[in-house]
Amino acid sequence: GAIEATLIPGDGIGPEITRAVVAVLEALGSPFAWDTQQGGLAGIEAHGDPLPGVTLDSIRRTRLALKGPLTTPVGGGFRSVNVRLREEFGLYANVRPAKTMVPGGRYEDIDLVIVRENVEGLYVAFEHYIPIDGDPHAVAISSGVNTRAGSRRILEFAFDYAARNGRRKVTVVHKANVLKALTGIFLETAKEVAPRYAGKVEWDDRIVDACAMQLVLDPWRFDVIVTTNLFGDILSDLAAGLIGGLGTAPGANIGADAAIFEAVHGSAPDIAGRGVANPLAMLLASALMLEHVGRGHLAARMRAAVAKTLNEDNIRTRDLGGTASTMEFAEAVIRHVRSE
Ligand code: NAI
Ligand code: MG
Repeated sequence: GAIEATLIPGDGIGPEITRAVVAVLEALGSPFAWDTQQGGLAGIEAHGDPLPGVTLDSIRRTRLALKGPLTTPVGGGFRSVNVRLREEFGLYANVRPAKTMVPGGRYEDIDLVIVRENVEGLYVAFEHYIPIDGDPHAVAISSGVNTRAGSRRILEFAFDYAARNGRRKVTVVHKANVLKALTGIFLETAKEVAPRYAGKVEWDDRIVDACAMQLVLDPWRFDVIVTTNLFGDILSDLAAGLIGGLGTAPGANIGADAAIFEAVHGSAPDIAGRGVANPLAMLLASALMLEHVGRGHLAARMRAAVAKTLNEDNIRTRDLGGTASTMEFAEAVIRHVRSE
C-alpha cells in the first residue's frame, strides 16, 4: 500500500531537483504518497515561518519526509530549521554514506558511512561569555553534554546499521585522551555495546585528529564510522570531499519514530532557476528513504539505473563535467529504470 510522506521542495534549486526525483520515484513505482509542504524562504512566503506549523503537523502525522535544501535567512532571528527539526522529532542519528559514483576523481572506490550523533555534544550550545575589564567578550565558555543513554543509542544504531547492511567494521571516533569526560563516556559506552556484536561486526577506535589524517591518506581502511556531534559534522563533510563534493552526497536524519532524508548540499542560489542542478544527491537521499521503509529492492534498482546513466551513457550534469540538464539526467535514469 501507499506510504504517506511529507515532501518539502525547499528553496533555490530545491524545486527543480525535487521534480526530477519525484519523476524517477514514480517510474520506479515507489510507495510514497506525497503531502507537499513548504519550508525555508518558501515557508516564510507562504506562512511567515521557515518551518510553518502546517509543515510540522504534516511530519508529525507521516513521521517521514524528503526535504529539499532550505535557504537560511540571514538575520531576522530565525533559528536553524534543521536544528528545530532534529529537536522536534528526536532525530538522533545523522547517516551520511560516502560512495564513489563517478570514477576519475581524486579517489576511486570510496565506500564508507559516517554515523553522527545529532542531538548532544557541543552542539547543545550551552554558551556564555565572562566580561573582564570592560570587555564583554573577554572569555567564551561552552559546555558539551554527552549522556550514557545518548551514546548507547547512537552506538547501537551504528552497529545495527553495520550488521543490517553487511558492513564488516565500525570505527568509534573520539578524543578521550583529552576530553576525558565528554568523549570518554562515548568510548566507555562503546566498550559495553561492541561485544554484543562480536562475530558479526568488528570494531576499533581512533582519536579524531588521527582519523582525519587517515581518511585522507587511506580512506579504504574505513567502513562505518560512528562519532559524537561536532566530530561527525566535520568528518562527514571531509567524507563528502573524498567522493568529489556536495553534488552526490545524501544524508538521513533518523529518530526512534521519525526520519527525514535530504541532500547534503544547500539551495545553490548561484545556479537556481536554470535547470542545471545535479539531482543525484537528493535522488540518493530518496534511495535511503526507500531502504528505510523496507523497499531496498527499489533503492537498488534506482542506484543501478543511476550508475548506468553516469558511467555507460556518460550523461552527467555540469558539476560532474557533463552538459546534461537536471531533467535530461532524470529522464536518462528513468529510461534505465523502465528498460530493466
Ligand atoms: P550550496 O551547497 O548551496 O552551494 C555550494 C556550491 O555547490 C555552489 O557553487 C553550488 O552551485 C554548488 N552546488 C550545490 N548543490 C549542487 C547541485 N545539486 N548541483 C550542482 N551544483 C551544486 O552551499 P551555500 O552556497 O553555502 O549555501 C546556499 C544556501 O543553502 C544557504 O542559505 C545555506 O544556509 C543553505 N544550506 C542549506 C542546507 C540544507 O537545507 N540542508 C545545507 C547547506 C546549506
Ligand atoms: Mg555540517
